Amino acid sequence: MTSGPLRARSSRLPGFYERPLPDRLALVAQWASLDASEQAILLGMSGLTAAQADRMVENALGIYALPFGVATNFLINAVDYLVPMVIEEPSVIAAVSHAAKLARAGGGFTASSDEPLMIGQLQILNVDNVYAAAGRLWEARAQVLEAANDPTSSIVKNGGGARDLELHPYPESPVGPMLIVHLLYDVRDAMGANAVNTACERIAPLVESLSGGRVNLRILSNLSDRRRAKAQCHLPVDAIGGADVVDRIVEAGAFAEIDPHRAATHNKGILNGMDAVCIATGNDWRALEAGAHAYAAHSGQYSSLTHWTKDADGALRGEIDVPVAVGTVGGATQVHPAAKVALKILGISSARRLAEVMVSVGLAQNLAAIRALATEGIQRGHMSLHARQLAVAAGASGNQVDQIAARLVAEGNVRLERAKELVGGTKSKKPGKP
Ligand code: MEV
Repeated sequence: MTSGPLRARSSRLPGFYERPLPDRLALVAQWASLDASEQAILLGMSGLTAAQADRMVENALGIYALPFGVATNFLINAVDYLVPMVIEEPSVIAAVSHAAKLARAGGGFTASSDEPLMIGQLQILNVDNVYAAAGRLWEARAQVLEAANDPTSSIVKNGGGARDLELHPYPESPVGPMLIVHLLYDVRDAMGANAVNTACERIAPLVESLSGGRVNLRILSNLSDRRRAKAQCHLPVDAIGGADVVDRIVEAGAFAEIDPHRAATHNKGILNGMDAVCIATGNDWRALEAGAHAYAAHSGQYSSLTHWTKDADGALRGEIDVPVAVGTVGGATQVHPAAKVALKILGISSARRLAEVMVSVGLAQNLAAIRALATEGIQRGHMSLHARQLAVAAGASGNQVDQIAARLVAEGNVRLERAKELVGGTKSKKPGKP
């Protein structure tokens, strides 16, 4: 890889991981036109201040930092992305970048997303006939939807707002008959929790008078299953490492589809990738987790969020389908300085595009994990990555990094002292004799 200016805007950056951090930052700064102050934020020299933290949470004492990296090689709907990821776990960024490289052989990822519809819930109690109450609310739904929309809200001004009602009568519950109203609300580019909660509170008095009952809870649902994102990839047999590897990956996928204990780990891996993008962009990863795991049980049994199959031509096909309630406006996305830089690196202003990138990253992570698990096992990859990191830390550069890493792994002695000895040994040899 040369250090010259980028000639074409491709996220395929061979050797990126071997470059020193300042070179990588310079490259990404050039990619996203980051100025000096934005680069200083990523370097931890500026960014979120204690004073800002004090306005964000209660009893603030300071700031907690995490590594900020970038995944390479992502081609999603024919657009190249460098994907910012904030995560403490080693291997995840390398794994998704590698899987994204493999996916390029089949045209990258094809992703889509639903309209940004969130669900707000109102719990109505003290109604004798939940079906009759539901009927009255349904008759008056235009009036309820109109009452839900605050004309001064920026979401409503931008074309979002209440779209529909759904009614779920429960004639019996541990506390008597209960009617649940779902308010479907288009939140545009926001995550939308505040807007939905406000709308639920706005309609509560009208809902009480129409139903004749008493409204208890008014709150959004984190099972945001009307706001899902989907992605798929198609990997030719040669790109994935042969027909046997395709079969093993399909077998690994089937394991997660039928077995909840495996599904939890499989989905945890998917969320390793998605959460890291969620955090980098200042979004609510607990909401993402809640929605993903709850949706994983939508058939009645907790299962996999991905589906792996073999095409007629023997190629591997992967699909993912997950609720993704994230925004590009509101919340921390526009307050946290590093989140703003992350969105700039992505070049994204639409929440739907962000969700599409996130599910593609989740699918890539899953591919990398089950490919490793179904072939050499996860530890060898972890060890080689660790060995490469040690080789770089010991002063190796260029081809030397891989040579020394391979030697460390082969010797079963993946330690910094040994890496230093090996780097010292190669440096003391005469030039031309590797
Ligand atoms: C580790 O953080 C994630 C994996 O366990 C995911 C998986 O097993 O698919 C490797």
